[in-house]
Amino acid sequence: MKARKIKDHIYWMGSVDWDSRLFDSLIPLPDGTSYNAYLIEGSEKTALLDSVDPPMAHELLSQLEGVSKIDYVVSQHAEQDHSGTIPRVLEKYPGAKVISTPKAKGILIDLLQIPEESFITVKDGETLSLGDKTLKFIHAPWVHWPETMVTYIEEDKILFSCDFFGSHIATTDLFVTDEGRVYEAAKRYFAEIMMPFRTVIKKNLEKLASYDIEMIAPGHGQIFPRPAFILDAYRDWILGPPRNTVVLPYVTMHKSTKQMVDYLVSALVEKGVKVELFNLTVVDIGKLAMALVDAATIVVGTPTILAGPHPYAAYAAFLANALRPQTKFLSIIGSYGWGGKTVEVLAGMIPNLKVEIIDPVLCKGAPTEQVFKALDDLAAAISAKHKENGFI
Ligand code: FEO
Repeated sequence: MKARKIKDHIYWMGSVDWDSRLFDSLIPLPDGTSYNAYLIEGSEKTALLDSVDPPMAHELLSQLEGVSKIDYVVSQHAEQDHSGTIPRVLEKYPGAKVISTPKAKGILIDLLQIPEESFITVKDGETLSLGDKTLKFIHAPWVHWPETMVTYIEEDKILFSCDFFGSHIATTDLFVTDEGRVYEAAKRYFAEIMMPFRTVIKKNLEKLASYDIEMIAPGHGQIFPRPAFILDAYRDWILGPPRNTVVLPYVTMHKSTKQMVDYLVSALVEKGVKVELFNLTVVDIGKLAMALVDAATIVVGTPTILAGPHPYAAYAAFLANALRPQTKFLSIIGSYGWGGKTVEVLAGMIPNLKVEIIDPVLCKGAPTEQVFKALDDLAAAISAKHKENGFI
């Protein structure tokens, strides 16, 4: 795709990646993604903000064919999907300087072997004049690495945010046209990589509150012509209380655990609690992560195998622990054949979750009436906890 004009002397460059279905060999990309770079032409100097994933380098270099000079390459985030083509850009424009935070400089040298003398590091709030356009660099750590920053053009009131406010969507729409679709993709993105750093991101949001932002141009997905849409969504995901929802990832072997899961879902629904159910043998972990953003409770359903939880249940527990959702309660249900340490092993895998454990329900063999009664009690306990805490 050719470069596309956003405003006078400001262009989208980059690549729309329709085909990729997995990011970082982990994160599902059901709708592909894009790698967005931006060209800013000032009256005196020209800057390129970020680059593209190296397999897409040819697209960016082709878009740069008519660009006679680049004075600065701004690297807002050192992860390779944004920085990986910077060495190729520097080959084409040998005099260009790389603008980054001091922390990003070290990471870029380590990852891409960019020569140290190519760098100009910028402090938080520092500005760089391109003539009639001024770039202001705002350090915004942990979105989602420690070295990240965003860039604000004072004259045009555009915020370039790299991963912050991004979404994985491949589309020919340069600007957001369907906020519902983008909301889901952005929430998935937030859940997968931003949620663990919620506390720091809250500070970054507060820092941006004093800026008059008319447009947000992220490093993935479409440009926001109505920034309040994505800023409000982030505030809700970060500051909003947990909801009256149970996330229930489960796996079953001989259907005893599945019987328990089905019974518990029904009992919770009768108590007015919403359930998001995930069969771990076919799960899209992005959807599971998204559900964790605002669920008050997690219940893991697992049979016991090899004296512990099923490996898929362990994977879900590991993921939840890494993502650090604001979940308040957790329980475990499942069936075992002769014994094991399923509860102890799973409980030991979630030190990052500040949760109260509600009594697990494990049964030997197929569930009996007594087990179903225990599941009724579990549903009642979860419902009561949600009500006590005002989760709606
Ligand atoms: Fe889009 Fe953290 O890279």
